[in-house]
Amino acid sequence: MKSNSLKTTTSSLPFNWYYDHKIFKQENDKIFKSEWIYVCHINSINKNQYRTLNINNKNIVVIKNKLEEISIFYNTCLHRGSQIFNDQEGSIKAPVIICPYHQWSYDIKSGSLLNTTSLILDKFDKKKYALKKINFFIWKGLIFVNLKSNKKFNVKSIFQYYDSAIDKIDLENYSVGHVWKKNVLCNWKIYWENYSECLHCPNIHPELSKLVPLYQRRLVDIQDHPEWNILKKTYSHPKYHGGLKKGAQTWSLDGSSQGHTLDEVRAELQSRGQVYISTWPTMFLGIYGDHIRIVRLIPISPEEVELTAEWLFPRSTLSDPQYNVNNVIDFGILVMNQDAKISEVNQRGVYNLEKHCGVLMPEEYIIKNFHQYIKKKLKTKS
Ligand code: FES
Ligand SMILES: [Fe+2]
Repeated sequence: MKSNSLKTTTSSLPFNWYYDHKIFKQENDKIFKSEWIYVCHINSINKNQYRTLNINNKNIVVIKNKLEEISIFYNTCLHRGSQIFNDQEGSIKAPVIICPYHQWSYDIKSGSLLNTTSLILDKFDKKKYALKKINFFIWKGLIFVNLKSNKKFNVKSIFQYYDSAIDKIDLENYSVGHVWKKNVLCNWKIYWENYSECLHCPNIHPELSKLVPLYQRRLVDIQDHPEWNILKKTYSHPKYHGGLKKGAQTWSLDGSSQGHTLDEVRAELQSRGQVYISTWPTMFLGIYGDHIRIVRLIPISPEEVELTAEWLFPRSTLSDPQYNVNNVIDFGILVMNQDAKISEVNQRGVYNLEKHCGVLMPEEYIIKNFHQYIKKKLKTKS
């Protein structure tokens, strides 16, 4: 099989695309307004709880009712437009949704207007004032929304990088062990670019590069090297075969999975160490020896992105009192903080040479695909 790497260098995006408000507006209009946006795992919201989310200057609310059914609406009252849920998350105290302004009440599941607090009018048609629903789809327990009401969810096309290992995992029944948030002062594309290559791994992630020896060679896949096949036959070290260092079982501080493994994907993880899938523009998911980590990226402004990471475990792992979840959580946070810090450094450099473009080297083929996706959406060749 051929190597993945690029055969020639290629131009990166102009540096002003990482802070220009006009570009950011176009990205919102042409990407975030019509792509499937990842919200969270269903088990990351408890029943009778809500969560709000800003996408493309719209605020939406995701609600799980007492029967654990999900409904998603624009967070706006149909009376005079008040926001209904004011916090990022919280519990729903009444059996109905109540607007904080004049107390109109709505059905939690359907969003239908139940009651106003005004004098009754004969000709007032309550049906016209239901909360506006958001198009959503729950795939393997993962909630996705689309601001286009008629968009169909198609698993074959929404993931740019898919791996059938995920098909074997009963993800909807996994439990959420931890959620971590961080706002990073960089353009959302810079964080994606960082995720898409390992040229930075040895110096930015020394601990991770020890755990995944291939990363010491600045490669994400053994096939990135043009002579990967010969190297694989010549050397037995995991640097040339992929996988974790000898004796390690998962991405954790000490490499141990404490006796808990994702048996369904044991073979894939043994050979590769980790498996990734991703969907632009908002989510990548990693499968590791004993857990799954999902990272969501939501732009706050052209120069700020919000990261939300969820750690998912089989229920039996989290219910084992001997299992120390911090072993994997702290390792994930260590790596993400390292990426966040260097992404901010990258951002600070782009202002000086505004019309210049960077250059993509052979190992940066995923970034090339990412840039092609952005340019296609924005319909520009520049
Ligand atoms: S704006 Fe919501 S009840 Fe008046
Ligand atoms: Fe990294």
